[in-house]
Amino acid sequence: MKRPLVIAHRGASGDAPENTLAAYKKALDFGADGIEIDIHLSKDGRLIVCHDEKVDRTTDGKGLINDMTLREIKRLDAGSWYGEAYRGEKILVLEEVLDLLREKDILLNIELKNGIIPYRQLEEKVLQRIKDYRMKEKIIISSFNHTSLMKIKQLNQSIKTGVLYVAALVEPWEYAKKIKADALHPLFYNIRPELVRNCRQSSIDINTFVVNEAIELSLISKLGVSGIITNYPDRARRIIG
Ligand code: G3P
Ligand code: MG
Repeated sequence: MKRPLVIAHRGASGDAPENTLAAYKKALDFGADGIEIDIHLSKDGRLIVCHDEKVDRTTDGKGLINDMTLREIKRLDAGSWYGEAYRGEKILVLEEVLDLLREKDILLNIELKNGIIPYRQLEEKVLQRIKDYRMKEKIIISSFNHTSLMKIKQLNQSIKTGVLYVAALVEPWEYAKKIKADALHPLFYNIRPELVRNCRQSSIDINTFVVNEAIELSLISKLGVSGIITNYPDRARRIIG
């Protein structure tokens, strides 16, 4: 059985401030096979890499990303909340992440954070960037907003999509087929042999989140999933191989 891919959640966010260049570089140093990032839209329509709708938790600023221009967002410090050593880290735009990864042999999981705020034309903008950078083979787009994933497929059926979910769904592999998704991205509590078997039969990948503890990494990696999304890619590589 092939070992699952190790996908660094918001970069190596257990060891550096999430969704910063420092976190992505650490993920690369730790030998991650993939990096997961989160995307919002700024007031001036830029693709902003940040987990929350607001900048409050992970920067020295306050407010909604969608109420701020890129210029305002770039003034914020996205590192010192995590540790003084990271002062000066900035919130990134998608293009900066694509610049970092375009020459690397690594998967990029772009999570669209349009579950709360329905960002206008977020799908079109992300697809345009992927096209500009010619990186579609290296990318999977995931979201808890499955309508948005359907839209992605309608706009470009060759872009891979992954269905994020937390609940214990009934036959999620059938649902994935219905919305033409390539992968399921379940919370790891939902991994059962039946899920793995049915996904395999339907050629649907399973990338599960967020698996951090050593015991969880060890158990989940033996269940036949295709990817494990973790804050600790170094730990995951040591345990999984
Ligand atoms: O993509 C997996 C995971 O990132 C989904 O949850 O809230 O950490 O973005 P969240
Ligand atoms: Mg995410």
